[in-house]
Amino acid sequence: MEYEFAPLEGITGPEFRRTHHHFFPGVDRYFTPFLSPNQNHMFPPRELRQVLPEENRGLTVVPQLLTKNADDFLWAAGELAAMGYGEVNLNLGCPSGTVTAKGKGAGFLADLTGLERFFDQVFERTPVAISVKTRLGMTSEEEFGPLLALFNRYPIARLTIHPRVREDHYRNPVRLEAFDRFLPLCTLPVCFNGGIATVDQCRALQDRWPEVDAFMIGQGLLADPALIRRLKGGPPADRETLRAFHDTLYAKYCRRFQSPKQAAYHMKELWRYLHCLFDGFESFARPLRKAADGPAYEAAVAAVFRECPLRADAQPDW
Ligand SMILES: Cc1cc2nc3c(=O)[nH]c(=O)nc-3n(C[C@H](O)[C@H](O)[C@H](O)COP(=O)(O)O)c2cc1C
Repeated sequence: MEYEFAPLEGITGPEFRRTHHHFFPGVDRYFTPFLSPNQNHMFPPRELRQVLPEENRGLTVVPQLLTKNADDFLWAAGELAAMGYGEVNLNLGCPSGTVTAKGKGAGFLADLTGLERFFDQVFERTPVAISVKTRLGMTSEEEFGPLLALFNRYPIARLTIHPRVREDHYRNPVRLEAFDRFLPLCTLPVCFNGGIATVDQCRALQDRWPEVDAFMIGQGLLADPALIRRLKGGPPADRETLRAFHDTLYAKYCRRFQSPKQAAYHMKELWRYLHCLFDGFESFARPLRKAADGPAYEAAVAAVFRECPLRADAQPDW
């Protein structure tokens, strides 16, 4: 069984991945948030940082690409192969309106003919393995029948299925019954992604689908950074390790942005999930949310670590 850290744009960048791996080892593969190759055939600095080998030393990282253009995909795949990557992942799930309006991400799912042409071109010339992360469709899970028939025709290294449609965004419940229905029709290696926040939840899904060989976790792993370690039989997060993880990441952001205020802003994205592991956090939420500079942020965090006991499992509220 493999466990993967889902890509989360704005949160799981290189500092986060390295720090997470250091304090909570056990993740088999980290995915970068999506890079958007275009006709310029140049990674902007922000995207290049995600994939530079020196930023990812010691961890297994799969770069993710968001495009519907085969030439741009192949250019990026070539650059990534030259950097030493053996696999790239195609994003067919992003629900953002600006992305889908351009027919990319989940928007590409509505264009079966275009997707077929894209796959024909990229699989003929790709220098690396290609995995795919997909939703079930744009508006209806019934779209997934023809989509899966198409996916099955190509040597996709692994098909990660997030069983929601685009219109579900991240709000509506994950469609487990649809996954039940489509899994037997899939001839590719499958990874399940969506809604896992505790060890018991993941175990129940593993019992339900023994043929699934990988589970990808995103928000649940931000809430409980030790979740994959625990799934592999390791210990839960203790307060000291969690504090060291937090402080190390914050220090890295302070160095990168040369601004504790900016660093605190970034850390608050993580706290949207991490707070779910702390009992009684509600009383400390406001000072953390309102913290407008480094010292205020540091004081708010110190209070949470001092006053709130850790829960056995994160209690998701997202
Ligand atoms: C803030 C945020 C950013 C995300 N960024 C990406 C991304 O860059 N690429 C991607 O494939 N999915 C992205 N996702 C989706 C997650 O990878 C994942 O599929 C989704 O959160 C469901 O899994 P989970 O319930 O385990 O979090 C993002 C989700 C969130 C909430």
